[in-house]
Amino acid sequence: MDKFIINGGAALKGEIEVSGAKNASLALLPATILAPGKSTLRNTPELNDVFTMIKLVNHMGAEVDFSDHILSIDTSNIKLQTAPYEHVKKMRASVYVLGPLLSRYGSAKVSLPGGCAWGPRPINLHLEGLKKMGADIDLVDGYIVAKAKRLNGVNIYFDIPSVGATGNILMASVLAKGTTVISNAAIEPEITNLGEFLIKMGAKIDGSGTNTLTIEGVDELHPAEVDTIPDRIEAGTLLIATAITSGKVKLTNIDKSLLQTVLLKLESAGCDIKINSNGLGLDAANLEINPTNISTAVFPGFPTDMQAQWTVFMSLANGTSSVRDTIYFDRFKHVPELVRLGADITVNENIAIIKGVKNLNGAKVMSTDLRASASLVLGGIAAKGNTEVLRVYHLDRGYQRIDEKLKHLGADIKRVAGDEF
Ligand code: EPZ
Repeated sequence: MDKFIINGGAALKGEIEVSGAKNASLALLPATILAPGKSTLRNTPELNDVFTMIKLVNHMGAEVDFSDHILSIDTSNIKLQTAPYEHVKKMRASVYVLGPLLSRYGSAKVSLPGGCAWGPRPINLHLEGLKKMGADIDLVDGYIVAKAKRLNGVNIYFDIPSVGATGNILMASVLAKGTTVISNAAIEPEITNLGEFLIKMGAKIDGSGTNTLTIEGVDELHPAEVDTIPDRIEAGTLLIATAITSGKVKLTNIDKSLLQTVLLKLESAGCDIKINSNGLGLDAANLEINPTNISTAVFPGFPTDMQAQWTVFMSLANGTSSVRDTIYFDRFKHVPELVRLGADITVNENIAIIKGVKNLNGAKVMSTDLRASASLVLGGIAAKGNTEVLRVYHLDRGYQRIDEKLKHLGADIKRVAGDEF
């Protein structure tokens, strides 16, 4: 397993392009199953969760060509409607194939996702929605076995505006008989990108981008092409990498509307944000970090996927701040590792209290999950001395070669293969 060796302290400078959004690709890829033929997903990021999803659709019989960020997929010869445990255990987002398989083939056998470093992360809203649409759902030997001659359009209200459940039910409804209304739907940009793609495939969807989606089921869809939106979480992570090192960086291929709340919080912390035609810049030269509290929320609130990165940023603030995660109450596995870097953080239930320290000091730290490991890298590039971040396969799941991007901006970071951990 690879590790990163980081010699901290360099202020990041320069310009970098933001890659396509992982969490858009992980919905767009399964959506191509809904229509036989060749679809094209442009601006697809080259990262491991996408490769895992490709392996899963290959297993089913789809043919994929993926080069230079253009992913084309031919779903004409899908033979298997199954998502085995060995794929799903690596990536919970595999459950996104449930809706499309059920829609197009009337049957699906998808492994239950299993555990996650933090959670619980149930999928009851996905299953209850499909059942309401007329699917027979059984749990057999750790698998979801679903059957439906043809799903029926119904009114569905989500108690929680779940991103995954909205995506799955949206993909289940586009070929259903009649009209489906999804109320309290997620409005994350990745779901709006999915809606855009489905409409290009011939789906009839009203309200895309709002909390109420009205879908008129059609008899068939056709392949289409779509641009994957930029990754707002990668952009936010790179902005905090710049701020925490008092750097000055310009991001291209990102739109401010994707991360408004993060930008407002960065300004509250003392950063100077400049918006320009094809991106935005952050200038943190001589930054004295103001302690700035955050509480995560669904879009357009502060993303839970940016919580760990904000926590390490506030560990160097001039005072005490709080970070509350209202989406996942126990997404704080990064805190003990940040404390090894010298941070002063205590967690009580779903709130971290962070007392700013003068500086962090390099140490050996262990990645536990994707965004936790991102916060360790941010700590390492800001710390005095050397930091080793172990098990960076977690990072490679959700970022396209982030070590190379940080090195391009001046960070002293190198990847070492084959670590014994
Ligand atoms: C998506 O996960 C993202 N993953 C996550 O990003 C992100 O953290 C999450 O949305 C929240 O924004 C992908 O898009 C692939 P949810 P998802 O369903 O769909 C509860 C990353 O780092 N819930 O919106 O699984 C759930 O427990 C990853 O890129 C139910 O109770 O998230 C949580 O408290 C990590 N029942 C809340 O809803 C359900 O059936 C939000 O979960 C589904 C969810």
